[in-house]
Amino acid sequence: MRNWILISIVTTILAVGALAAAQEDAKQLAAKGHSVFLQVLGGDESKLPEAIRYMEDARQLDPTNVNNLYNLGRVRFFEVITLGRQESLAKAEEVFARIIELDAKKTEALSFHGSILTQQSGGRDIAKFMQGVTEMKTALEKSPNNINNLIVMAFTAGNFPPQALAAMGNYSPLKDLQFVSTAFSGRVSSYAPHADVVMKAFLGENFKLKGDEEKARASFEAALAVPKPNDAGAQAGREVLTAAIAARMNGGEKSLFNTRIFQGCHSCHLNAPDKLQAR
Ligand code: HEC
Repeated sequence: MRNWILISIVTTILAVGALAAAQEDAKQLAAKGHSVFLQVLGGDESKLPEAIRYMEDARQLDPTNVNNLYNLGRVRFFEVITLGRQESLAKAEEVFARIIELDAKKTEALSFHGSILTQQSGGRDIAKFMQGVTEMKTALEKSPNNINNLIVMAFTAGNFPPQALAAMGNYSPLKDLQFVSTAFSGRVSSYAPHADVVMKAFLGENFKLKGDEEKARASFEAALAVPKPNDAGAQAGREVLTAAIAARMNGGEKSLFNTRIFQGCHSCHLNAPDKLQAR
């Protein structure tokens, strides 16, 4: 009898130990996935499969690690909006939905999920579209002034036709963009060396869409006047952004929203423009 108790205690200890080890491995894999993802965001698109592999392996070992799931959701979202891989939209939706189940306080997941629903609605499924809008709004009500959620809302709505904006009570991204731009003003982030430049440029683009040429030019000039980063890679990234902004400011026809480097996730993060893949 005593032996059995001993054996069962030992087995339990071993099982708990194995679980703890798996969680430790999962954390390490998740951290690797995150750091490779940052390189991808900086421009090194060839590393995308590696980033995804680390995150998927981490998920296998620990399916409820919300941080890892959040990275996985964002990497799928990146594939859709930056690389145009529509088939990743359903994968992103599934991951963000899982996070919402696991952690209701993670409003960023709700915001991304809402954006995805509006994209999946294809402008035809009105109920789905409105649910997406509601989720993005709810995320902002739950955590007002959350920069991530403001950006997701403003950028998602930037792609909506006027009828859709009317259905949203004539939502205008300008106010949200202005708020975010002020928050980034003068702020230097090593993760996102161009956030200040990009937000000022997007503000300029929105003034242009509204026909306010004077404010548009002032915003573009403010974007170009942001101090240059120190890091060589970030400097190279900055030159690419500067060229696009200057072209638009000086009468270029192409909206920044339709300029490759400003579409998707690379803009604020660009530090390896030479590694962007041809497409
Ligand atoms: C408007 C600029 C901007 C754009 C566009 C942008 N980011 Fe970021 N991102 C930032 C800023 C600013 C930070 C750093 C925040 C800080 O320093 O705390 C950041 C940090 C990150 C990080 C590292 C910190 C974390 O949360 O894990 C990841 C990953 C990331 N962004 C993913 C993305 C993805 C995916 C996209 C496209 C959907 C994207 N970013 C688009 C501004 C941007």
